[in-house]
Amino acid sequence: MNIRKILTSFAVTLPLLAQEVNPDVLKKGYEVFRRTCSICHMEEASIWEFLRARLSVLKGERPQNIDAPPMNLISARIKSFYPNEVEFVEFVKDYITNPSREKGVCFKAAYVFFGIMPPIGQGMSEEEKTAVAEWMYYRYSDRWDDLFKKVKDLQKRVLKEK
Ligand code: HEC
Repeated sequence: MNIRKILTSFAVTLPLLAQEVNPDVLKKGYEVFRRTCSICHMEEASIWEFLRARLSVLKGERPQNIDAPPMNLISARIKSFYPNEVEFVEFVKDYITNPSREKGVCFKAAYVFFGIMPPIGQGMSEEEKTAVAEWMYYRYSDRWDDLFKKVKDLQKRVLKEK
């Protein structure tokens, strides 16, 4: 084996060892997302899409073309409150089953413009809820602080250019 092969094989195995999550669970979670959540939640908003929604909110208007906060933003936001995987998964499973303004961790604008999400988890099995929550945890790696800083920086740049 040459050195490059050794390095590549390390690069591939290390992340797998670090996170002991069953790939079948993540696959199932993505299926649940596609079937049940993607009606309202887009999978990933770019920083530009984040900015567009933010500018609407700052003007007191409902963001256009979306019915709920995008999943990458929700995942990062929840991780800033529940960084631990077990707590994150618990939070998501509970929220989608019994959503309420009090336990929610989104910005106020989410509830004002979109309303509280329906208790969609009540029609789902434990297995489906766990799978989609695990998928939400592992699918995204951005930190909320970084995303929020990026959008504010972009906002400054865009407003300066006007
Ligand atoms: C009918 C539209 C709709 C569907 C379907 C839907 N959601 Fe939501 N979801 C929303 C809206 C609107 C919000 C923002 C208001 C809120 O948090 O309740 C939201 C917020 C959330 C939040 C953030 C909770 C918080 O802290 O406020 C999570 C987590 C979430 N959704 C997960 C899911 C998952 C997982 C599914 C699929 C199983 C799903 N949603 C399906 C509309 C929906």
